[in-house]
Amino acid sequence: MKRMDKMNGKAKTPPKVLVLLGSPRRKGNSTLLAQRIAKGAEKAGASVEYVYLHGLDIRACTGCMKCQRKGAKGCVIKDDMQDLYRLMKECDAWVVASPVYWFTVSAQLKLWMDRCLAFTSYTPDAFSGKRIAIAMTYGGEDPFDSGCINALRTFQDAYSYVGARIVGMVYGSAMAEGEIAKDAGVLSKAEDLGHLLVAADG
Ligand SMILES: Cc1cc2nc3c(=O)[nH]c(=O)nc-3n(C[C@H](O)[C@H](O)[C@H](O)COP(=O)(O)O)c2cc1C
Repeated sequence: MKRMDKMNGKAKTPPKVLVLLGSPRRKGNSTLLAQRIAKGAEKAGASVEYVYLHGLDIRACTGCMKCQRKGAKGCVIKDDMQDLYRLMKECDAWVVASPVYWFTVSAQLKLWMDRCLAFTSYTPDAFSGKRIAIAMTYGGEDPFDSGCINALRTFQDAYSYVGARIVGMVYGSAMAEGEIAKDAGVLSKAEDLGHLLVAADG
């Protein structure tokens, strides 16, 4: 679907959204929230691509810092991150989803986060045009005591630091796989966030 640019009447390419799923559970709670954000974005005209991080070959950053050298073009580790860097570049917005594991994000998501250091070497402003929505679920009763706020702060600090725009965050409490589906309030917030993620004035 092509949208018309109000200003000049030209057909506009629909925004592309990359959904990064950080839970090992295929139908987990954070995935359900991310899917609802994606649904909101799709309704607002975006195209969506999902990446399930668990099981991908994403090796740990070795701290070699070669990606930070002058003229560097990306990460020297040749694994599935190479395709992911291309997708990250291509997409206007990202939905990043994770369960709270031990008071922070899942290991699968943290591997991806660490490798984001090399993304800065594609162009100095690689992150600055990106719009990010975050989906997080936790098993405890309180978002502070459970570590959810800690995990959200990690995202906020990291992606604000590199100049990305965190458009919003949705988070909810659920322990068993898929249990978040009972929480209509948080699902509705997730859909609204998806809309905002790709809205021109959001
Ligand atoms: C290894 C592990 C560690 C966890 N650590 C926490 C925690 O620190 N705080 C919490 O509230 N819930 C914790 N949980 C519960 C999950 O955050 C909760 O079940 C969440 O909804 C899972 O999301 P998912 O279905 O997307 O994987 C943990 C679960 C596992 C398996």
